[in-house]
Amino acid sequence: MNRQELIDIAAEARERSYSPYSHFAVGAALLCSDGAVYIGANVENASYPLCMCAERNAIYNAMMDGKTSEDFLALAIIADTEDACSPCGACRQVLSELFPRTAPIYLSNLEGDVKETTIEELLPFAFDGGDL
Ligand code: THU
Repeated sequence: MNRQELIDIAAEARERSYSPYSHFAVGAALLCSDGAVYIGANVENASYPLCMCAERNAIYNAMMDGKTSEDFLALAIIADTEDACSPCGACRQVLSELFPRTAPIYLSNLEGDVKETTIEELLPFAFDGGDL
């Protein structure tokens, strides 16, 4: 599966976003080494802190199907942003624990802009279990 195909799946996942409060729909698609793709979209709640981001839903969706970090190959994220959509701090923290340090993360938007990065770049000097 190429980069654009994974981004297209993230765009489809975005259609499932439940975002009646922010009206900001985000989609994510996580490619695993066996070829499986797990999707996520943001799911909001009237109690705002309970909102869950698309990226975390995709990672957790894969884990609930028995996948682990070792299976994760690439992640695509998409939203209707001016520049390619960048993950929030909470998602960076979760990705830094559960997503391989140097695996590609494709940040994208509906205009076709794509930025390729890694969690190492997005969250340098991360706090992790080794600090406890
Ligand atoms: N959101 C994501 O799904 N991913 C991010 O990385 C940024 C924010 C969602 C959370 C909330 O539902 C909406 O976007 C506005 O913050």
